[in-house]
Amino acid sequence: MKRGIAAFAAVLLVVFTCASASAGNHGNEDRDVKKGILLVAFGTSVPEARKAFDHIDRKVKTAFPATDVKWAYTSSIIRHKLAEQGKMIPSPEEALARMMDQGYTHVAVQSLHTIAGQEFHELSKNVKAFENMAGSIREIDMGYPLLSTQADIEAVSRAVIANIPKERSKDEAVVLMGHGTHHPANAFYAALMFNLQLKDPNIFVGTVEGWPEVGEIQEMLEGKGIEKAYLMPFMSVAGDHAKNDMAGGGDDSWKSVLTAEGITCVPILKGTGEYDNMVSIWVDHLKTSMAHLEEK
Ligand code: CO
Repeated sequence: MKRGIAAFAAVLLVVFTCASASAGNHGNEDRDVKKGILLVAFGTSVPEARKAFDHIDRKVKTAFPATDVKWAYTSSIIRHKLAEQGKMIPSPEEALARMMDQGYTHVAVQSLHTIAGQEFHELSKNVKAFENMAGSIREIDMGYPLLSTQADIEAVSRAVIANIPKERSKDEAVVLMGHGTHHPANAFYAALMFNLQLKDPNIFVGTVEGWPEVGEIQEMLEGKGIEKAYLMPFMSVAGDHAKNDMAGGGDDSWKSVLTAEGITCVPILKGTGEYDNMVSIWVDHLKTSMAHLEEK
C-alpha cells in the first residue's frame, strides 16, 4: 500500500512538473514584453530648428539605450508640409496604431510640449482611447510636458538662469518668448516669470499668442529703465516664431518693437530643446512614466 502511495505521488509530481513547464512556455511574461517610447512634439518645418529634436532624440536614447524610440508630430499643417518634401512623420495616433500592430506591450508617450495646453490634452484623450481599445498596447503611460508642476517651475527657472549668456549684466533684461495659448494653462508663463523674478528681477516672460504680450513686456522694461535685452525663445525649437516674431525685421517683431523704444536687442536663436538642462527635465518626466510602466 505504501509503495502504491509513493507511485501515485511520483505520477502527481510528473503531472505538476509538465503543467508548470507548459505554463512557462505559453505565458512567459518577460519574453512577451516589448517596450517602446513615443516622443510627441508640435513639430517644425524649419530645417535648422530640427537640431533641437535631434538633441532630444540623442538624450532620450542615452537615457534608455535598450528601448525603441519613435517620433510623432501633433501639427497636421507641419506634417503635410514635410510630406510634400518626402519626409513622412506620423501623427501620434498613426504612431500608436503602428506600435500596436508591431506588438509593443508597454509604451511611454512623452509630450515634448512646453505646457499642458490644448495639444497636450487632445493627445491625452487619444492616448486613453488607445488604452481602451481591444487588442491594443497593454500599458500606456503619458509623461508631463516641460512646465507642469511646481517642481518643474523651479527646475525650468534654474535652467533658464544657467542658459543666459555670460556677458549679460544684471541691469540688462532677459526676455523669454513663450508660445502662449487661449487654454487656461497659459497662466504657467506668468507663474514662471514670477518665480524667475524672485531670483533675478530683470527676467521677463512674454508670449506670441497668449498673455503677457510684447506690449506688457515693453512697458515693464521701460518702467525699469532697461536699455538692453537678450531675447530668447521659450519654445522647444527656434523655429518660425523665433526667427520671425522674435528676431525678424518686420515692424511687429519683438526686436523691432523694443528697438523702436530705444532698447538694444540681442536675439539668441536657440530653442529649449537645444539645452541639456532643459531636456533633462523632459527626460525626468519620461523616467517617471517608464517607472509607472514597470509597476504595471
Ligand atoms: Co504658433
